Amino acid sequence: MAIKRNQNPHPKPEKKERLTNTKTNQDQDSLEESIRPHSFDEYIGQKDLKDVLSIVIEAAKTRNEPMDHLLLYGPPGLGKTTISLILASQMGVNCKITAAPALERPRDITGLLVNLKPGDILFIDEIHRLNRLTEELLYPAMEDYRLEITIGKGQAARTRSISLPKFTLVGATTKVGALTSPLRDRFGLIQRLKFYEPQELALIIQRTAKLLNTSITEEGSQEIGRRSRGTPRIANRLLRRVRDYIQVKKFDTITQELAAEALDIYQVDPQGLDWTDRLILDTMMTQFNGGPVGLEAVAAATGEDVKTIEEVYEPYLLQIGYLNRTPRGRVVTASAYQHLGKTGLS
Ligand code: ADE
Repeated sequence: MAIKRNQNPHPKPEKKERLTNTKTNQDQDSLEESIRPHSFDEYIGQKDLKDVLSIVIEAAKTRNEPMDHLLLYGPPGLGKTTISLILASQMGVNCKITAAPALERPRDITGLLVNLKPGDILFIDEIHRLNRLTEELLYPAMEDYRLEITIGKGQAARTRSISLPKFTLVGATTKVGALTSPLRDRFGLIQRLKFYEPQELALIIQRTAKLLNTSITEEGSQEIGRRSRGTPRIANRLLRRVRDYIQVKKFDTITQELAAEALDIYQVDPQGLDWTDRLILDTMMTQFNGGPVGLEAVAAATGEDVKTIEEVYEPYLLQIGYLNRTPRGRVVTASAYQHLGKTGLS
């Protein structure tokens, strides 16, 4: 069956909000703040990572030293910032949060570094996007707690070395491969966050529902959990949308049936795919015969940008086995054909 591009069978919803978006705006930020777990006991999932970090914290505390620099990587929305805040709270220190795009000029990073208190955590999100000058200022800061600044220009230029308090840098990235090796090598600990299991997401949803004073059945939380792409940020967002739905429809408890009904309306399907995921898969099937196809070609044909496909959509489609990466490009799998109700290669 040939489908032309502008006959997309998965029409974009009228409302532009992407429910499965992993970015947050300011309102969502404050909502996220109110439901964030504050200790590893409250934090559900990522057991291996919690085990490693608990040992690191205990050892550092016993030695009365700051923790080693830590690099956290993995898809967006899995809890890198939350982990950093929990680490700070367990260590009894402050956590300053910033992101690489906000560190444009050398004075942005120097300002942050000189104001740190001993033991503080500096969290830099999207650390793979640091510019070269900022990154080079971080090398001696991470290694020897020194800031090397250049004063003046040309022949008159002088360098000054300022000592910094001992601190811990927590870097977060969705693209660990994009870090330069000098930066990567300065982290004593490099840890990956994994997608969450549906059952873990169901527990997160139950916890959040309680904080939001919303009644939900176990099956209701499982239905939302299954559709949350392995990502707590998405799970909590879908929960809020389902809560809106039952409120408007005048029900008082989120059941499996109501959760499914609401999420169908929002076009989040039973596997958690939204219209863009389906468009990507559909385009690969109909225009590229299922692949192999390069990311650039998929981006051009779907009107999405390469980076978004690579960092937001593709990781989950790979995880659930709907896409494969091959040396010649991406290919759609038989399960993806089955999910979209299509027959295989034409
Ligand atoms: N909210 C978001 N992520 C969470 C997690 N991992 N555990 C508990 N609540 C959460």
